[in-house]
Amino acid sequence: PPTTPKSKPLSEPTIEEVAKGITDGTFKKIIVMTGAGISVAAGIPDFRTPGTGLYYNLQKYDLPFPEAVFEIRYFQQRPEPFYALAKEMWPSNYKPTITHHFIRLLEEKGVLLRNYTQNIDTLERQAGISPELLVEAHGSFGTTRCIKCKREVDQEWLREKVFRDEIPKCSDCEGLIKPDITFFGENLPERFHTLTHPDFQQCDLLFVIGTSLEVYPFASLVDRPKSDVPRVLINMEEVGPFESTKKDDCRDVKVLGDCQASVRELAKLLHWESELDELVHQG
Ligand code: APR
Repeated sequence: PPTTPKSKPLSEPTIEEVAKGITDGTFKKIIVMTGAGISVAAGIPDFRTPGTGLYYNLQKYDLPFPEAVFEIRYFQQRPEPFYALAKEMWPSNYKPTITHHFIRLLEEKGVLLRNYTQNIDTLERQAGISPELLVEAHGSFGTTRCIKCKREVDQEWLREKVFRDEIPKCSDCEGLIKPDITFFGENLPERFHTLTHPDFQQCDLLFVIGTSLEVYPFASLVDRPKSDVPRVLINMEEVGPFESTKKDDCRDVKVLGDCQASVRELAKLLHWESELDELVHQG
């Protein structure tokens, strides 16, 4: 099929036009940026939604400010709040959502270039997205190590300590043990820095799903695609540069509302509904 001229991949900023561009092969190097909003339906609260977000429910830990629970310096002085929270959030009995399965479907269709996620719940892995197509930009509960000597520690050992409310210390150097999630004040994984430049050179369509775009450097990815690459926000609210998009600007498409319903609508437009349901049933 003839591909539309590169200059204006979308004739109008609508999700219908985006779906057309995916089916007619215009978009085949898709990057998906995701945040906590896509796991809310799995039962994991996000961080900043007023009232239900995690940062609104940390009073019992008596923190100086909510993000302190993920601050490396605060953690070294007072690790208890993080471990108590880890106990609540431990990714054990959560299941991927429709959105996680949709990203897996993009991979099966051969059009997923990369999924950059901020989530630490490992639901992308559970949904079957290939590790090489995944960048867990804020790390994950997947691996665990001593923050002092960096010795890797068995995750089961940590889980037992955390669930027994014992502070896990390294048997070699007495350092604190934590899952490899990126705390404020720590560097993002090397993989984030090595892949972003080449990826965004090739990216021909960007999805931004379930994130407030408040945390850098992850949020800066939204400005990395080339100027003619459409950006599709699927989110409860307008965030980041989408807040100031002009109405007729063909660059940005906004689908506001519950991402699970919006993704299902998109799958319908792509005629991928039965395949998506298949993946959802596999769980
Ligand atoms: N459908 C669509 N959007 C949703 C839904 C939903 N069902 N539920 C929540 N959202 C939106 C919220 O409106 C908000 O814009 O998802 C976004 C979630 O934003 P945050 O709670 O800030 O989560 P996130 O953007 O992932 O946070 C980034 O902050 O604390 C750090 O390291 C932590 O990775 C995290 C980072």
